[in-house]
Order: sequence, then C-alpha cells, then structure tokens
Amino acid sequence: KSVDDLGDLRGKRVLVRCDLNVPLDGDQITDDGRIRASLPTLTKLREAGAKVIVLAHLGRPKGQVKPEFSLAPAAKRLGELLGTEVQLAEDVVGPSATKITSELADGAVAMLENVRFEPGEESKDDAVRGELADKYAALGDVFVSDGFGVVHRKQASVYDLASRLPAAAGTLVFAEVEVLRRLTEEPARPYVVVLGGAKVSDKLAVIDNLIKTADTLAIGGGMVFTFLAAQGLEVGQSLLEEDQLEKVKGYLEQAQQAGKRIVLPTDIVVAPEFKQDAPPTVVAADAIPGDQLGLDIGPESGRAFAELIKEAKTVFWNGPMGVAEWENFAAGTKAVAQALSEVDGLSVVGGGDSAAAVRDLGFGDGDFSHISTGGGASLEYLEGKTLPGLSVLDQEK
Ligand code: 3PG
Repeated sequence: KSVDDLGDLRGKRVLVRCDLNVPLDGDQITDDGRIRASLPTLTKLREAGAKVIVLAHLGRPKGQVKPEFSLAPAAKRLGELLGTEVQLAEDVVGPSATKITSELADGAVAMLENVRFEPGEESKDDAVRGELADKYAALGDVFVSDGFGVVHRKQASVYDLASRLPAAAGTLVFAEVEVLRRLTEEPARPYVVVLGGAKVSDKLAVIDNLIKTADTLAIGGGMVFTFLAAQGLEVGQSLLEEDQLEKVKGYLEQAQQAGKRIVLPTDIVVAPEFKQDAPPTVVAADAIPGDQLGLDIGPESGRAFAELIKEAKTVFWNGPMGVAEWENFAAGTKAVAQALSEVDGLSVVGGGDSAAAVRDLGFGDGDFSHISTGGGASLEYLEGKTLPGLSVLDQEK
C-alpha cells in the first residue's frame, strides 16, 4: 500500500518512520542526504493536510537518554529544508510527545525524540516491543513507513507499530525497493558489483549471493586484505580477518567454478601507520612490506576497476575503497565514484557510509541512477533476506 491508499488524510495524525541517522560532527550534520530523501513523503503528507509526526533514531544510545544522540540537529535541518518549524518533543512517548502531537495543526510537522532512547525500541522480546508500539500508536491514526535504511531491523517503530495502525510504505521505500528489485531480477549485463569497506565478516552473506547474480565482483577497502591473504600473499600490518580466511578461499573457488570473476587490486597504497598524514607509498599487491599497512587501492587498480565499471550495464557499489575521508587515501574511492558516474546503464551507490563518502568527494545525486539511503538494508535485500519492516507492510490487517 502507498500513501495514496490511506484515504483522506486531512486532519489525521500520521506517524512517519524516517531514517534520519545522519553523520554528525558535534551538533553539525556532515551529510544531510537522508533528511533530503525523506522530504517527498513528508511534503506529500503536509499537502494532504495531515498532522505529520516523525519517528526516527540517531546512533545507538541503547535504550538510554543521551543528549549527544538527540534528534535536535535533524529536526532543525528538516525544518530548514521544509521551510517550516519542526517541533521536537523532549521525550519519545512521554508528556511532551503527547502534548505536542495532540496540539499539532493540519499540515504541521513534529518529531519525537530519538526512539532508541526507549529500551523497548530494540528489545528482542516481542511483548516489550509491543508495549512501546502501543504507546506510539496512541499518538497517531495511521502509519507510514519511509525509513528504508532501517527496514531490516525488527524494532518497535519499524515493525511492531506497522501492525497496530492502518499502514503504508512511503515514497522513499517504494523508490529504494524498485531499484533493488531491478538489481536482483534480471539485471542488464554485464553486472558488476564493487564492494569495499572494512570488514569481510559484515559482507559475507551478500558475497555468497552476489557470486550467483553478478558477473564480476571487484573488491577493495579494508576487506581486500583477507582476500589477498587467502591467495597466499603477505599483507603486512593491514587489516586481516584470519577467522574468515577459509570462507574467503571458498568464495574464490566458488566464483571460479561458476565462471564469475572476483577482481582484486594489483597495487595498494600503503603507509607506516593508520594516520591521516602518514606518508603514502604505492606498492604491488604481492609486495606489501611487513611493517606497512594498506589504506587504499593503488592507481593501477583504480584504473582497472574504472574500466570494468564503465563497460557494465548494471553496477552496484557498497563501501569505500580506502580511507576516503583522508585525502592521501581517497583516490581509489574517487576513481570508482567517477567511473560509476559515467555508466551507461543502472548505477547504484548502496549505503549510508558510501553515500556520505561520494557526496564528500563532490559527487551528487544526479551523478548516479540512485544513491540508496540504506547500507545494511540494501545489502540484506541483495542477500535475499526477508526485511521485517517490509514484510510487515505486506501482511493483511
Ligand atoms: C544505518 O545507519 O544503516 C541505519 O540507520 C540503521 O542503523 P543501525 O545499523 O544502527 O540499526
């Protein structure tokens, strides 16, 4: 169901779950992409005359009220982007939330404090989550799920609330799912996936699935060293997940048998320490000095990855190729982003971190077919997992 299926919303209190989990430097938002991505649904609801109540989380305060995890910066920015004040309740389901939501005018927007200040939000106990979801439900008449980045979490404001009120998916959730569906159902070929980021263990399940669906997997980022080590190479002081070596060896074999390519970098930018101003040196991937650590893919690899990407008809990219926030180690990520922006086909950047990295490097939404707001959520979708926040919307009420 979409927002249009919810009937006349004038005067109704609409609870909207958004993902406003933005990166912050103190109280400064460093990338407001997720807030911008929530605008179409919120604007649509305002125009329909609804009283809009935003539910969102920030970081992982683990059920405790911690001022540094307040949604105040997000409420302020949302207000600027919408051109209207967004009142932030002082609590999640307490007296302040009740007062603000009951006094809201038609077309106005309010926000509850960080839902993860409530211990029930992330509880593993269905009854505990349900109790909190009942309190959320008491604040509204209908529910709209638009926090795509969080639909893989079985949490009270994402999952349980959806079965307590008439519910629909927002514009963002529809757009994200449509793109991911195109990646999984008969993607135009060649289909190239570029994976980076720090940990192989985070990406294990998706690699397993991508070997089946994609034609080529290009690997960079911190996780590449476990792949290089699995091929018997020395990786010096680089990040290495020894407990994943056997699994990775299995993937390399699996890919070979399936006629798929796993492309690894042939050169690496190394440094003596993990520091922003550490002096960078380019070495061959099979000659990483014992006292150095790899912090980016090298220029030859950047060019090779770029060629692969530009020739593809479908590309999905998740995870930076190196420490992209440090200039000395950003070239690999930049090369991939640049190539992706030149793809003649479907180009998708997946993930909160990757999205922030590409915007930081000067690329924008117009440079790619789609920048996903969901990191974990998009990976779990590509893994073929059922996402609780989506499946609950499909259930008949
Ligand atoms: C994200 O940043 O990927 C989403 O907001 C989900 O956050 P979480 O991983 O803390 O659940």
